[in-house]
Amino acid sequence: MDVHFDLSGKVAVVTGGGKGIGKAIALALADAGAKLVVAARTGAEIEAVAEEIRSRGGEAMARVTDVTQSDQIQALVEAAMEAFGRIDILVNNAARSFLRSLFDLREDGFDKIFNTNVKGTFLLSREVAKRMKDQGGGRIINITTVGAVRGGALMGVYHASKAAVKMLTMCMATEWAPYNILVNAVGPGLTRTHFSQPIWSNPEVERQIVTRIPMGRLAEPEDIVGAVLFLCSDAARFITGQTIYVDGGTLANT
Ligand SMILES: NC(=O)c1ccc[n+]([C@@H]2O[C@H](COP(=O)([O-])OP(=O)(O)OC[C@H]3O[C@@H](n4cnc5c(N)ncnc54)[C@H](OP(=O)(O)O)[C@@H]3O)[C@@H](O)[C@H]2O)c1
Repeated sequence: MDVHFDLSGKVAVVTGGGKGIGKAIALALADAGAKLVVAARTGAEIEAVAEEIRSRGGEAMARVTDVTQSDQIQALVEAAMEAFGRIDILVNNAARSFLRSLFDLREDGFDKIFNTNVKGTFLLSREVAKRMKDQGGGRIINITTVGAVRGGALMGVYHASKAAVKMLTMCMATEWAPYNILVNAVGPGLTRTHFSQPIWSNPEVERQIVTRIPMGRLAEPEDIVGAVLFLCSDAARFITGQTIYVDGGTLANT
């Protein structure tokens, strides 16, 4: 049986690729042979990731993009097509949240969360899927969270946004399967990044959280990449509309 994980010749776009989980995903996709377009708002961070890929012998470009802005999404896709001629893989990883109670989250905070996490994922996926349709297929991986399927305090609107991303994943998978565009999600548990620092930087809070994780530790960004690589690979060629949780057993323990 011919199953392989090699991504040589593929072109991948990773949003939020300047740090944390997105950076780990971008480096891993490049190590698997893909050419990378790394996007986020902070130019210095994505340029450093692209440079790291090039220093390892890969091909990469950085493109400053705010995924809440449709003109910048258009420009990102056009730049990727101009540089590499196709897009085979899209990883919608960029996201934001605020650690606030539902009473305290402001209306503009709600808009920032939903515009980045949901609207950005929708707009970029739609633009890329048009190109994938013309090319005969592709893979879209949306980064969601264990919080998409369970409640919790202080990040309620973020949880709701990621539940929306999970449903978008299923609907995009349904509509785009006839074009061989496979759409799946990866849902990390609490992962040690800048994003979650307000949580894990308090040792007592981290200790309480870890007691509920069967594997007894937080995830590191590198723990998340295996599921993404699998879903991008030939091995996942008949999988679409699914979410793989990478959580050390957290949801199994809920
Ligand atoms: N860390 C966790 O515990 C955890 C758990 C479950 C799921 N996740 C998910 O994993 C993904 C990555 O999170 P992370 O922990 O690696 O976070 P992170 O270290 O804060 O990285 C987030 C990335 O998203 C980019 N970004 C934010 N807003 C953007 C925008 N409007 N346009 C373009 N890029 C934008 C940021 O760059 P700029 O600010 O430069 O734009 C940054 O590169 C997210 O989808 C998050 O929801 C994280």
